[in-house]
Amino acid sequence: MKQETKLTVRKPILSYERTNRYYLMDNSIGTHLMNAMQIIVPLGEAFFIRSVKRFVEEVNPQLKKEVKAFIGQENIHKSEHIAFWKKLEDQGFNLEPFRTFYDITIYGILEPAMLTYFGPKFPLAVTVALEHYTAVMSAYLMEQEPEVLETMAEGVQDLIRWHFAEELEHKSVAFDVLAEVDGNYLRRVGGMLLASALLGPYMFLGALSFMIQDKELTLSRLWNDLWKGKEKLASLSKYTLQQVVDYFRVDFHPTDNDNEYLIEKYMPQEVIAKRG
Ligand SMILES: [Fe+2]
Ligand SMILES: [Fe+2]
Repeated sequence: MKQETKLTVRKPILSYERTNRYYLMDNSIGTHLMNAMQIIVPLGEAFFIRSVKRFVEEVNPQLKKEVKAFIGQENIHKSEHIAFWKKLEDQGFNLEPFRTFYDITIYGILEPAMLTYFGPKFPLAVTVALEHYTAVMSAYLMEQEPEVLETMAEGVQDLIRWHFAEELEHKSVAFDVLAEVDGNYLRRVGGMLLASALLGPYMFLGALSFMIQDKELTLSRLWNDLWKGKEKLASLSKYTLQQVVDYFRVDFHPTDNDNEYLIEKYMPQEVIAKRG
C-alpha cells in the first residue's frame, strides 16, 4: 500500500574514537566488506543525487519536496561516510587505489556511457535498483539481525543506525520519480540487472584491497572469521536474493514491504539531538 512519506534531513554528531579495528562482530571479513561499502556508498550517493536531480522539475509538487529531502539526506550520508575515511587512514589503510579505480570505471566511464547510449532515465533506473539494495540491507540488519547491529562499536553503530533508518525513510522516492517520468518495466529491471552485476564484484574488490593492506590480519584469523561468519553471510545473501526477485514483480512498490516502524526504533536520537 502506498503511503505518504515524511522525510527529515538530520545531521548527526558522530565520533569514532571508540571504534575498534574489526568493528563489525569482531570479524575481519565482515568489517572489511563494510569498509568497502564506506567507499562505495558515498560516491554512489553522489550518483543517486545527479540521477534524480535531472527529473526534479518533471514530478508532482509533493514528490518534488520528497526529492529535495532525499537529496538533503543523501548529501549528509555522503559527507559522513567520507568523514569515516579518516578513521580508516589512521588505521593504516590507503583508500586511494580502490577509490580511484571505482571512481574512474563507474563514474568516469560507465555513467557517461549510460547517459550517451541509454539516456538519463537509465542511470535513474540503476539508482532505483541500488536504493532497493540499501533498503533491503537496512531492513535485514534491523529486522533479522539486530544483534549484529549491537556488536558494532560505538560511533560506527550510530552512523549505520542513522543512515539505514533514513534509507528506509526515503526508500520509495527514487522509485516514485522513475514511475512518474517513465514507468517502463524493462528499463526498471534493466537497471536492477546492471546494479546486481556490479555491486558484488566491487564489494569484493574493495574488501580485498583492505585485506591485502591489513598488517594485523593473519591467514588463520581470516579463515576463522570466514568460518564464524559463513552462516550470517549465507543468510544475508538468501534474504537479499529473495528481495531482488520480488523487485521483478510488475506491480512491485518499495512500500509493499511494511517496515517503516524500524525507522523510529533504530534512529539514534541521542546523536541527532546533540545538534542543539
Ligand atoms: Fe544514503
Ligand atoms: Fe538512499
